[in-house]
Amino acid sequence: MLIFKTVREAQSACAQLRGEGRILGLVPTMGALHEGHLSLVRAARAECDVVAVSIFVNPTQFGPNEDFSKYPRTFDEDCALLKREGVHMIFAPMVEEMYPAGATTFVNVEGVSERLDGASRPGHFRGVTTVVSKLFHIAVPHKAYFGQKDAAQVAVLSKMVRDLNFPLQMVVCPIVREADGLAMSSRNRYLSARERQQALTLSRALGKVKDAASAGESSAEKLIETARGVFAEEPEVRIDYVALVNPETLEDISDTRNGALAAVAAFVGNTRLIDNLLL
Ligand code: PAF
Repeated sequence: MLIFKTVREAQSACAQLRGEGRILGLVPTMGALHEGHLSLVRAARAECDVVAVSIFVNPTQFGPNEDFSKYPRTFDEDCALLKREGVHMIFAPMVEEMYPAGATTFVNVEGVSERLDGASRPGHFRGVTTVVSKLFHIAVPHKAYFGQKDAAQVAVLSKMVRDLNFPLQMVVCPIVREADGLAMSSRNRYLSARERQQALTLSRALGKVKDAASAGESSAEKLIETARGVFAEEPEVRIDYVALVNPETLEDISDTRNGALAAVAAFVGNTRLIDNLLL
């Protein structure tokens, strides 16, 4: 498995692979890998000739009071996992390599970037779209893999790919959950045993939304009430948002009959978790 730290090395290795006619899959990550990430790698391995994984904790997508400095960094373990999965190449640049002094160009997808997590975390998606654009320019993959867990990120990046004509296919893989329903996340490592139990409120709330929708309820207002009712049973878990939105535009909807994304974000202790369900 090759490990590259510089843009130039990664760019020329990827260009060579493409030149040889190989289908290249890219899995962008911030490391601290778990089964959710590995499911993306496995999907890429199944569909592509070679798989590149980027590991970069991207400072521009963290707000000033967020967890950039304490975000888990587990590079050696990540490399061991990726080697076992048959990954061809890791791109793990330093911050100065991705953002050299004087870099002032950003990519912003207007509108959709200001909704859901974008509303709670101003500037977050500008950081995501900027770094992912850079990764797309460096690797020029045929396919790029993202998890449905970050549904708002998927909406923003899909729009960016369309708007900027990136010549690649976005592949979105299903949420991977722990046995008790908690959506896998690198931030689950922050949770104490008690918080780990409380964190189940998110998937439980979505479970109730799913049951109500299956029983015929299509009013977004009623479904939001249902989810909020579950959060009310666990008052220490602080809701950031509970929303029923159009999965592509992330705009609120009033009725779910034409499809909807039920999305929740909440603080468990100091840890902000997200989860969602496509109806
Ligand atoms: O989903 C993530 O881990 C990050 O937002 C991404 C896409 C790797 C960009 O830094």
